[in-house]
Amino acid sequence: MKFFADTAEVADIKELAALGLLDGVTTNPTLIARSGRKFLDVVKEIAGIVEGPVSAEVTALDYDTMMKEVAVLKKLGSNIAIKVPLTLDGLKACRTLRAEDVMVNVTLCFSATQALLAAKAGATFISPFLGRLDDIAQEGTELIGEIRQIYDNYGFETEILAASIRSPLHVKQVALIGADVATCPPAVIKALANHPLIDKGLAQFSADWKKTGQSIL
Ligand code: E4P
Repeated sequence: MKFFADTAEVADIKELAALGLLDGVTTNPTLIARSGRKFLDVVKEIAGIVEGPVSAEVTALDYDTMMKEVAVLKKLGSNIAIKVPLTLDGLKACRTLRAEDVMVNVTLCFSATQALLAAKAGATFISPFLGRLDDIAQEGTELIGEIRQIYDNYGFETEILAASIRSPLHVKQVALIGADVATCPPAVIKALANHPLIDKGLAQFSADWKKTGQSIL
């Protein structure tokens, strides 16, 4: 399973990359606004840090303007994945871009039938938003399961990129279902290593080691 960082914070991306825990990055207009930086500058910088796909989202809603924006975004790096919304215009843009062998992440997916359309449009990634479904009392993980089954039924190669992940539990759930990628806030990726028993175990080993009076170095 691949881990993408869902952030536009360069310091966090560098930290995760140095830990060897990063396979890609997803950004969106909200994350760019939160970074306080210029969209094109920050995405270009991120694309230079990470080897894997870096999602950059179009802001236009119509096909023609989307394609004009894509012409700019494509120049930010060879690893840019163009993020388009799951609308008819977004799917049309997806089809055009895939014919040119440009990576496409179809975002804002909230139903299995939407995911089916994205796969038929040749999407590289489909981004179902778990957390936002949970927020309205719908089971986000059920959607991931349905998409997994549909894609496996027909051998679609579109990768399921579980998005809007809010907790380590979400990561475990989508990993059990078989999502190909989880895009997570950096704090969630780091929290995957936490366990109260490791803290307790390390404290015990340190105390006992001290008693021996020995040193490895
Ligand atoms: C995915 O690509 C989105 O950027 C993201 O996961 C949305 O998460 P949110 O619902 O926490 O804003």
